[in-house]
Amino acid sequence: MNARSNSVEVMTTASRRRIPEAAVIRLPLYLRILNDLSADNCTQISSDQLAVLAGQNAAKVRKDLSYLGSYGTRGVGYDVSYLLYQIQRELGLNKSWPVVIVGAGNLGQALGNYGGLSERGFVVAAVVDSDPSKVGSVAGGVRVSHVDDLPLIVQSKGVSIGIIAVPAQYAQSAADLLVRAGVGSILNFAPIILNLPAEIHIRKVDMALELQILSYHEQCRMDARGVAVVSDPESVIA
Ligand code: NAI
Repeated sequence: MNARSNSVEVMTTASRRRIPEAAVIRLPLYLRILNDLSADNCTQISSDQLAVLAGQNAAKVRKDLSYLGSYGTRGVGYDVSYLLYQIQRELGLNKSWPVVIVGAGNLGQALGNYGGLSERGFVVAAVVDSDPSKVGSVAGGVRVSHVDDLPLIVQSKGVSIGIIAVPAQYAQSAADLLVRAGVGSILNFAPIILNLPAEIHIRKVDMALELQILSYHEQCRMDARGVAVVSDPESVIA
């Protein structure tokens, strides 16, 4: 999601309504929990139970689910399979989405080979790279194409989601290319903030950033235990 907008428009065949971005972000979490419950043959769940499993408070869960038009039944809770259907429908997961991966390096290849994408309905339609020596190799079951072919690929395969897996210094130009080609949403793995038109939805994955947050918590834990941390100014990493 672009930082300049705080809600996302979710369209269904029956209606158009806006769900706050914060709630949209929690829906995939509920989806994963409900899938696990369904696999365990659980048919009903209360908002209290779902809240515990999701690490949220129950009022927030009820509010989130109300955006789907789901209110549960007092004393019974929510029907797991119907809730699954509603969340999938709302997230647009009842159809498959062709995605293109820009960058056929270590990460691009790993993502292309990641079975979890296709299991969730995201089909790797193409992997593109600027390095001619990579073109023609196979990544994620598809032959790597040259990045110059991106506009044609996006149009011919109906791609609306692009994944950026190029070094940071090339990520902005890769993003611009994706946007010019007609992609509306971008998942960016490069450690750089992209500058894109407000209508483009951007999500960012940054493992190093997550680790830095964990290192803060570990440092607090050590401080609380009174463990002296020897700080070496030379070793501080931005
Ligand atoms: P890599 O060097 O193995 O692969 C990068 C690929 O991008 C190369 O094949 C290169 O030819 C290609 N490339 C460069 N410029 C391009 C352009 N303009 N258009 C198309 N292809 C282009 O790098 P690696 O390890 O796969 O990392 C890729 C990116 O992912 C980096 O920005 C890295 O920091 C990031 N990364 C992020 C992680 C995360 O948790 N978010 C984890 C690992 C990597």
